[in-house]
Order: sequence, then C-alpha cells, then structure tokens
Amino acid sequence: MNKGKFIVFEGLDGSGKGTQINLLIEEMKKQGRRVYQTAEPTASSTGGMIRDALGGFVGRNAYELSALFLADRIFHNTNPKNGIRYFIDQGIDVVCDRYYYSSFAYQGIDADLDWVMNLNLGCREIIRPDVCIFLDADTDSCDERIEKNRFDREIYENKVLQKKIRQRFFEVFDKIKDQENIKIVDAVRSIPEVSADIIKIYESIKEK
Ligand code: TYD
Repeated sequence: MNKGKFIVFEGLDGSGKGTQINLLIEEMKKQGRRVYQTAEPTASSTGGMIRDALGGFVGRNAYELSALFLADRIFHNTNPKNGIRYFIDQGIDVVCDRYYYSSFAYQGIDADLDWVMNLNLGCREIIRPDVCIFLDADTDSCDERIEKNRFDREIYENKVLQKKIRQRFFEVFDKIKDQENIKIVDAVRSIPEVSADIIKIYESIKEK
C-alpha cells in the first residue's frame, strides 16, 4: 500500500494557516483522499504544559520549552492510536499545523539553535514531512489578523518578537534547504489566490 503524504503548514501567528489548511483539506477530500488533520502543540498532557507556558501562566525558559515541544512531538509521531506514523502507514495523508520548524524559529531565538535542530532532526522517531508550506506574511498583516480574531495574546504574539521569528524562519530554511522540501507562499494575497498555490504544491508531491 502507498504511504500517506505528510504535509506541514508553518507561518507566523496570524498568517492565515487555519483558513488555508481547511481549504486544502476540502480539496484533498474532494479528490477522494483520506486526510487526518492535526496540530502542535498536541492535546496531550505535555501539550497542556506547553499551553500553560504560552499563555504566560507558568514561566518556562526556551530550553525547557524546546524539551517540552520535543516530547510532545515524539508522542505526536509515535502514539499508536492517533500518531502521525500510524496514519501515514495506512495510506492516510496527514496535514499538521506547525512542526519542528516552529521550534527552530521560536525557541531557536533564546535557546541554542543548533541544539534545538539536533534534538529534532537527529531523533529517528520524528518523521520528516514530504513538504513544509510556509505562509509568509509581514508582521503588520499578521498583527492585524491577531487583533481582529483574539481576545488575548500568547507570549510570542508581539510585533517585535514576530519580526525576529520571521527572520529566524528564513535563516533556518536556508540552513536545511538541501534536506527538506520547503515551499514559501506569499500569504498577503486573497484567500483563493493563496489557496490555488497551495493546491499546486500538493499536486506536485501527491504522486511522488
Ligand atoms: P496556537 O495558538 O496553538 O496556534 P497558532 O499556530 O494558530 O498560533 O499557537 C501555537 C504557538 O506555539 C505559536 O505561538 C508557536 C508556538 N510553537 C513554538 O514556539 N514551538 C513549536 O515547536 C511549536 C510547534 C509551536
């Protein structure tokens, strides 16, 4: 049986990932594909510890956060009931909102970037995606969307930090471009325009 495809979406907070993920999944289902939609941090108990930290309720430094995201990600890959590997092995496509690229860009600012990268890329239990789709939007556009849609902000959701995170994403993509399939999509366009590009990317990996 053919394995399922593993598609990751990345982007700053407010880059429109949620909308675009839903549109891609709609299209995949129309094409008769079976799709499992997931996200990080997960709904596991480690994910709960992460959310407490992101909400600012519990203080955690970038090293602790890297380790928590790593544990959550290993669980996300290996969990026999609804883990990424379990679905891919059954021929089901997996679409994931954020993955290790976020650890590099967010935790890689205050924690040693090479250490965070080695933890994730060197772990055999963490599957490499078929493609990482990065929805690129400038920080002003993202901030506007956050302002419209949220009542409160998580620890990373301020403009100065988001600028640094966006820069970090690009630095990281440059470092790993030979080993990873990274597609940068201009997300400051109309929803259908962005979606059309994403569907093209999906078509390009589907039959590989
Ligand atoms: P969340 O509110 O769950 O979703 P969204 O992606 O829609 O913003 O936010 C997840 C937050 O977690 C986001 O600010 C990025 C951060 N994050 C990390 O810092 N490191 C990671 O490894 C991952 C997966 C996420």
